[in-house]
This record gives sequence, structure tokens and C-alpha cells, in this order.
Amino acid sequence: MRILVTGGAGYIGSHTVVELLNEGHEAVVVDNLYNASEVSLSRVEEITGKKVTFYKADIRDRQAMDEIFDKESIECVIHFAGLKAVGESVAKPLEYYENNIGGTLTLAESMRDHGVKNIIFSSSATVYGDPAFVPITEQCPKGTPTNPYGWTKHMIEQMLTDLHTADPEWNVILLRYFNPIGAHKSGKIGEDPKGIPNNLLPYVAQVAIGKLPCLGVFGDDYDTPDGTCIRDYIHVVDLAKGHVAALKKVLENPGVKVYNLGTGNGQSVFDVVKAFGKACGHEIPYEVKPRRAGDVPVVYSDASLAKEELGWTAEYGIDEMCADSWRWQSQNPNGYEG
Ligand code: NAD
Ligand code: WQD
Repeated sequence: MRILVTGGAGYIGSHTVVELLNEGHEAVVVDNLYNASEVSLSRVEEITGKKVTFYKADIRDRQAMDEIFDKESIECVIHFAGLKAVGESVAKPLEYYENNIGGTLTLAESMRDHGVKNIIFSSSATVYGDPAFVPITEQCPKGTPTNPYGWTKHMIEQMLTDLHTADPEWNVILLRYFNPIGAHKSGKIGEDPKGIPNNLLPYVAQVAIGKLPCLGVFGDDYDTPDGTCIRDYIHVVDLAKGHVAALKKVLENPGVKVYNLGTGNGQSVFDVVKAFGKACGHEIPYEVKPRRAGDVPVVYSDASLAKEELGWTAEYGIDEMCADSWRWQSQNPNGYEG
């Protein structure tokens, strides 16, 4: 299939483009490079030996999107483009609503007017809020998001669902990611956050390489076995393969489908710190800090629906995630800047 990948130069997008190309699909990427470098796409070409068609454009730019759909024969859109920093979204709600929701509206209007009615959307486990139960199945009610970023995911899910209700020709697959980490085995592509990382893994990786002195562990007094929060970390390559599996589903005209993409296993912050220490060959210095506002103690998936209906399961464990993250970090200490 010929796929339009919005946000395809970013972390998850670039890994997904690799898996699409490896499976014989064609990828057209649109990205405004707000949080990415075009270098990621040349690395994708090095890894796969295949070409990626790239448009540096903003999904909010209707004319640019129309031109892309006019020119390329797109069968399905995988929609990653968006802003994703939880804390920043609290400080800049309008920017988040405008970019994430406004961008998706413009994209969907352009798709509709070009008869492209298949979309796979990057949603998030954040829509479950403080989950009603764990492991979280897709039946778990959506919670109340605690930040504008979470609301954008919540609202976009609703918007795309309504689109299908109005016109059943639309196929909408909502993929709720748990915590994506790791990098491609080649060490050529990975997560390249700007500034000081907010998320655990990139922070630990920068401590490991000596760019940051010490990890702050946000709370060790939770009601969990070691007192730190538990998350379902998933290797980004497994996540990328989940999108390829979802594409096959789209061909069955499934209507609206929701899938959790996680491993089904929970790891604590201390588990991750230990696994990363093993991967990089030395211990990660850390200091226990107060709890971070808004953190939920235990979040992990039940990923059996994706297994049953998409034939997809995550293959990699935490050791491989940390080893691959370390390979990327140590081979590219300054990310794509070289
Ligand atoms: P990322 O920032 O690396 O990728 C997003 C890409 O979108 C970037 O390359 C950015 O330049 C581009 N972009 C942003 N706004 C755009 C616009 N208006 N027009 C064109 N391009 C635009 O982030 P990621 O981690 O790869 O996340 C991809 C998607 O997955 C996002 O929608 C994110 O919310 C979602 N998600 C991420 C996580 C995570 O922990 N990384 C978890 C759940 C869901
Ligand atoms: C993981 C654990 C922290 C940093 C976020 C978003 C979520 C999704 C994924 C997009 C927590 C602890 C972290 C640090 C720490 N993104 N931690 N020290 O919060 O589970 O999820 O990213 O949809 O929406 O909220 O991920 O990596 O920030 O934190 O102790 O310096 O690591 O308290 O327990 P989180 P995270």
C-alpha cells in the first residue's frame, strides 16, 4: 500500500517507516520538522535501502495537504503528527489544541475531499486516566485526562469515531500506546528529545552517557512492590510493527477499532534503572525525589485484543529495550545533530 505518514520524521514515525518499507509498502512522509530532523529519514533510507518521499509541510496547511493528496495516490494515513509534552501542554493549552486538534481536522477534511478514508491514529494510554482496573483492556472506561495533551487524544478519538458514524466508509484504527522506548537495532535512529528530557528513558540514557549528572526518581513510597511507579514499556520497533499489522486490518473495512499496544508487563522505575545499568555497563546514579504531580501508580496493558485481531504481540523485553536505547545514545551522543 502507499501510505501517508504524518509526523514520519519523528521518533515513532521513523521506526514505523522502516517497518512499512521492510514489508514492501511505500511511504510518503509529511512533517513540519518542529520536533524532528530530516536526517532521521536519510537514516531510514540507509537502514532499508529504499526511498522515502518527504514533504516538509504542516498538516494544518490545507493547500499543502491537498497538493500532497492530489499528487500521491494515498490509500491510508498513519497519523503521528502532533505535540506530545504533557507539562508543556498545561502551560500552552491553545498551542496543543490548535496543533493536535486543528491539525487533525485539516488532515481529515483533505482526506475526505480526496476520497482517502482510512486512518490509523496514535492515541495513548493516557486516555484511561487513572485506570479503573489493571491490566487495562480496551473495555476499560476512558478516564478524565489530567492535562490538555491527554484531552487532545481523547477528543481526536471521538472526532474520528463520529466521522465513521456519519460516513461508514471511513475506517478508523485508534492505537493506544503504552510507554514506547528503545531504538532500532542498527543504532541509526532513536529518540532525540530537545532540551532536558521529560520522560524516564531519555533521561536515564543521558545520565548514562554523562550529559546529566543524576536521575531523579519521582517517589519511592507508592503502593507497589518497590515503591516506584509501574509502567508498560514497549520497544518502539514492536510498536512500529503494530502499525503494519493495523494496516492489514484496514483492508478488511473494520469500521472503528481500538487496540492497546503494550507488552502486558509492568516494570518499576527501579527495574528500568537496573536494566539500563546492565546495558551500559555501569550503575545509573539516582536520587529519590518527591512524587511528580499527576503520576498514576500502576499502568499496564492487557494486549490480548491486538493479538487476537491483529496477530500482533510485542517480542522484546526490557533488557533489549535498554540495550537498543543505549546503542542509539552512545553512537549518537548529540542525537541527529552529530
Ligand atoms: P515526535 O515528536 O518524535 O513525533 C511527532 C512528529 O510530528 C514530529 O516529527 C513533529 O515534527 C511532527 N509534527 C508536529 N506537529 C506537526 C504539524 N502540525 N504538521 C506536521 N508535522 C508535525 O513524537 P513521537 O514520540 O514519535 O510521537 C508520535 C505520536 O505518538 C504523537 O501523536 C504522540 O502524541 C503519540 N504518542 C507518543 C507517545 C510517546 O511516549 N512517545 C505515547 C503515546 C502516544
Ligand atoms: C515514567 C515513570 C515517572 C522521569 C508519559 C505521558 C503519556 C505517554 C508516555 C504520550 C513515571 C518516572 C520519569 C524522571 C522518574 N505519552 N520518572 N524520573 O508519565 O508514564 O507517560 O509518556 O502519550 O501520556 O504522560 O512516562 O517516562 O514520563 O515516566 O522517576 O526523570 O518514570 O514518575 O513513574 P509517563 P514518563
